Amino acid sequence: MDYLKAQSVTTLQGTINISGAKNASLPLIAMTILAKNRVTISNLPQVADIKTLLKLLTNMGAEVSFLEHSVEVDTKPLHETKATYDIVKTMRASILVLGPILARFGHCEVSLPGGCAIGQRPIDLHLKALEQMGATIEIKAGYIEARAAKGLQGANIIFDKITVTGTANIVMAAALAHGETTITNAAREPEVVQLCEVLSESGVEIDGIGTAVLVIQGNGGKLLNIPDFSVIPDRIEAGTYLCAGAITKSEITLKNVEPKHLDAVLAKLEEMGATFSITQDSITIHPLQNLKPVKIITQEYPAFPTDMQAQFVALATQAEGVSIIEERLFENRFMHVSELQRMGANITLNGHTATVTGKTELSGTDVMATDLRASSALVLAALVANGETNIHRIYHLDRGYDSLEKKLEGVGAKIERLQE
Ligand code: EPZ
Repeated sequence: MDYLKAQSVTTLQGTINISGAKNASLPLIAMTILAKNRVTISNLPQVADIKTLLKLLTNMGAEVSFLEHSVEVDTKPLHETKATYDIVKTMRASILVLGPILARFGHCEVSLPGGCAIGQRPIDLHLKALEQMGATIEIKAGYIEARAAKGLQGANIIFDKITVTGTANIVMAAALAHGETTITNAAREPEVVQLCEVLSESGVEIDGIGTAVLVIQGNGGKLLNIPDFSVIPDRIEAGTYLCAGAITKSEITLKNVEPKHLDAVLAKLEEMGATFSITQDSITIHPLQNLKPVKIITQEYPAFPTDMQAQFVALATQAEGVSIIEERLFENRFMHVSELQRMGANITLNGHTATVTGKTELSGTDVMATDLRASSALVLAALVANGETNIHRIYHLDRGYDSLEKKLEGVGAKIERLQE
């Protein structure tokens, strides 16, 4: 198993190219199930979750060809409508095939994804919405068996909670449904917006893109002609490297980034003392003097993203004063705290709130990654910890970061990937 060995650095310097967004790529790959043509997707990040979903589609009969900087997906030969446990257990976002497969074939079996480290991760809202669209849903032996022999019907869906993949699943199902579907309390994340935009360019009439109320005119089951497209930049990867610049008081420029997707993250970094130079597709963070403490509450987009919470807990250990970070979306997303405490961080947890008192000298040691974003928090801490830090179980990291250690090495970090 791989692990990362990192030394503390004085400062970093240089440019990092941001990859395509994992959380945009996953629904966009699932969307190709609705296509009658070969779809070319560029700017896909080289991360494990994307490979897993492409493998799932291949197992179901699709043809996937890897080109120089893009992937071509042809789901015409797709014939299998069962997403088996062996794949789904490794990536719960496989649930994103449920809506498209059901809409295209009228039946679908998907293994229940189960929870994950950060929480129980229910999918009740996905299933309830599909039932409202006329599907019959049964749970049998750990599988969701969904049927809609006459196709799905447009419905008036009101999500009790804002769900990112739930919104994506229902938007894709609604595209081929009979009649109009309204989704109220829809997720507004940029990843959902891109899915809606590509569907719209494929001939699906969608009103309210980017707002909390989406109105989709279903085409009654006709497959789509989906144009080639490029995946939007990964705002969470970008935010993570901005935190690397902030924690090491460095100047780093991020290229191929979409600044407007990072408003809430940039605002919090500015509150902590960071300054930026921003162009249409780049962000430069300038060396800051002393990090100030911060108050953060994670919420749905456009508010501060839960996927940046762990990174800011690590950053807050280096701020002069007391930071309060509240996690409102997931019930168990503070597993990085115990590992940071082992490095010397002064953090107290009270329910869903972490109180971080800084500035504390961190000491390098062996630490264990527990989930995707916790892994990147440990890397950030390792950049400023005295001595050497070994970060184990980085298969978590590899699910969502494309060549993280190489990108950090490229700006001067002393970090290498080794075998246990
Ligand atoms: C997406 O997960 C992201 N994953 C997550 O990123 C991200 O943390 C999350 O959205 C929130 O932004 C992908 O896009 C692949 P939700 P998702 O459904 O869609 C509750 C990362 O680090 N809920 O928006 O699974 C749920 O328990 C990953 O890249 C229900 O109760 O999250 C949570 O409290 C981690 N019932 C809240 O809604 C449901 O049916 C938000 O979950 C669905 C969700």
